Amino acid sequence: MNTYDFPMLNKDLIYFDNGATTQKPICVINKMMDYYTKYCANAHRGDYDISLRVDMEYENARDIAKKFLNAKERSEVVFTSGSTEGLNMIANGFFKKLLEPGDEILITKSEHASNVLPWFRLANELGVIVKYIPLDENHYVTLDNIKKSVTPNTKIISLSQITNVIGDIRPIKEIVEFAHEHNIFVVVDAAQSAPHIKIDVQDLDCDFLVLSGHKMCGPTGIGILYGKKELLNELEPQNLGGGMNESFDTVDDVYLKELPTRLEAGTQNIASAIGLGAAMEYLMDIGLDKIHEHELKLRAYLIDKLLSIPHIDLINIESDSGIVAFNVDEIFAQDVACYLNKYNICIRAGNHCAKILKDEIGVKNTCRISLYFYNTYEEIDKLVELLKDKKKILMEMI
Ligand code: ALA
Repeated sequence: MNTYDFPMLNKDLIYFDNGATTQKPICVINKMMDYYTKYCANAHRGDYDISLRVDMEYENARDIAKKFLNAKERSEVVFTSGSTEGLNMIANGFFKKLLEPGDEILITKSEHASNVLPWFRLANELGVIVKYIPLDENHYVTLDNIKKSVTPNTKIISLSQITNVIGDIRPIKEIVEFAHEHNIFVVVDAAQSAPHIKIDVQDLDCDFLVLSGHKMCGPTGIGILYGKKELLNELEPQNLGGGMNESFDTVDDVYLKELPTRLEAGTQNIASAIGLGAAMEYLMDIGLDKIHEHELKLRAYLIDKLLSIPHIDLINIESDSGIVAFNVDEIFAQDVACYLNKYNICIRAGNHCAKILKDEIGVKNTCRISLYFYNTYEEIDKLVELLKDKKKILMEMI
């Protein structure tokens, strides 16, 4: 689907590392090029035409993001540098002042580092406890296991909507419903889901959600922090500076602006915010349902082929996204990636920043194929052909 929109893909390259970052369509590249070549100025600071155009384009990108997420209000959409910054803002700016020693934060062992380390820091600083929700035999989160893990001390459940190695889609809406009945906040890491499935934050009713632009056809260095307005209003800005203050005079006399500006200190990543708006429009034009459907078909095709190769150990036969993790018997994952690289095939190998997942799946490193809508059956055929012959891998891997 839509391969010709991507300059990087009109080469002899097979790109299967979309969980790490995605390729960019020409409309996103052109949108950013227009900013740099036709109306480059700062935002919210100038009284001249090109600066007013920047204000309009930057805030228009926020409106597009609001629509993409179906947020209730545009002030609930804050630009960040990515999911990592968003999660750190939530942990340090909102929860740090709310939590007491002994309070519990529930995560899983399949979370990415950015949804583990900010909570570890709160555990060290505040004496709160990070607990792991047990996963089922497919390494999935179930509502039942969440119910069993919750105690009167549970304050936060923080989960990826789609995990970056197992690729399971979590039942966020049901989890939120249960959590809210018990006065527990729910934080959603949508870095791996926003590019692939439709997100409706009002329907999910989650308290916070973060995403990264570069994993969804947008530029690097930009992301979104969504939060319910009443919660974002309580989120302490981690950065203070220009743009976000209304006035200041003495130390006791500092007034901050309203949301979302109070959480966007300093000159923002304007070109990337505008580029992200273009990327979100592009994905909405294709249709997130269509994207997911295509990825599931590609996945089924790939799994079917890999299952017929005796020396391939599949880690996540069952999951319902375009992520496929596997190992080749007795061959180090990174050697497999280097072998495929010789044929211009890009996959990721290693622990994928999910460093405690090894306790669940029993191996530290895996090869990961993460599909996107622009991948094709022909590309999968080429990959499978190369993986079929173990002797060839052993001969050529160095
Ligand atoms: N979080 C990214 C990945 O899973 C980098 O590859």
